[in-house]
Amino acid sequence: MSKKKLSRIQLDQMKAERKTAVWITAYDYWTASFAEEAGMDMILVGDSLGMCIYGYSGTVPVTMDQCIYHCEGVRRGAPNTFIIGDMPFLSYQVSVEEAVRNAGRFHKEAAVDAIKLEGGKRVCPQIKAIADGGMLVMGHIGLTPQSSGQQGGFKAQGRNADAAKELIEDAQAIEEAGAFALLVEAVPPEVCGIIRDTLKIPVYSIGAGVEADGQLMICSDVLGIFQAFTPKFVKKYENLGAKTVDAFKNYVADARNKEFPADEHTYKMIDGEMEKLQNLLKQ
Ligand code: KIV
Repeated sequence: MSKKKLSRIQLDQMKAERKTAVWITAYDYWTASFAEEAGMDMILVGDSLGMCIYGYSGTVPVTMDQCIYHCEGVRRGAPNTFIIGDMPFLSYQVSVEEAVRNAGRFHKEAAVDAIKLEGGKRVCPQIKAIADGGMLVMGHIGLTPQSSGQQGGFKAQGRNADAAKELIEDAQAIEEAGAFALLVEAVPPEVCGIIRDTLKIPVYSIGAGVEADGQLMICSDVLGIFQAFTPKFVKKYENLGAKTVDAFKNYVADARNKEFPADEHTYKMIDGEMEKLQNLLKQ
């Protein structure tokens, strides 16, 4: 029987029952189909695709069109999974109108279930407008890669009392603005735990410890594909980077030694046709 897609009501229910929602990023059809087969509760088509797929040093260059194309592939790969499109830099910061229009593009063109955007109180007008437009919006606080320049780099956030209090206030403002869920990134677990217990909406962690309603990981980290750097909070469950290089090296060696393609990889002439061809060539 195929898996049934979760609704926001079921995500709320999971929080109430203290069941951990587990999700991962995916950027393409095949990763999404494996994620769905593995039973992920949600998939984020993160703007981390800029780093994991396109090799940019950050997420700032990522465009709306890139995000839409990748969401479309993910939706085809995971038709029965709750999919969140990630709003890229400058798709929601300039004005509330642009934010609503771009959030709508994710829904109309890529059939996502929700969108996510980064920031605290300063993006609450956008969150409210998108929610008023009938769409599900997830907030994202703590380390926010699109504004990592202001944060002094890809650094843990909320590690002192003042910064932690500000994060808690941002989280409350996001809930009040109408977000259906919140993602907290690279924050000490104690702070994430307070946010989870303060908010009614589900609070998910990426690098914010177990005191959360769910866990998110980047697929390229889980699989050991992303090589540029490894954040402290990453657990690599595979080393597909090394395995891929080995597979490619074996193919190079086999082809150079004429061990590939072998007999079983080649097509056969129909019986008797080779003789006919030779006769034709003689004429
Ligand atoms: O783009 C992304 O994958 C994200 C995660 C870093 C949370 O926003």
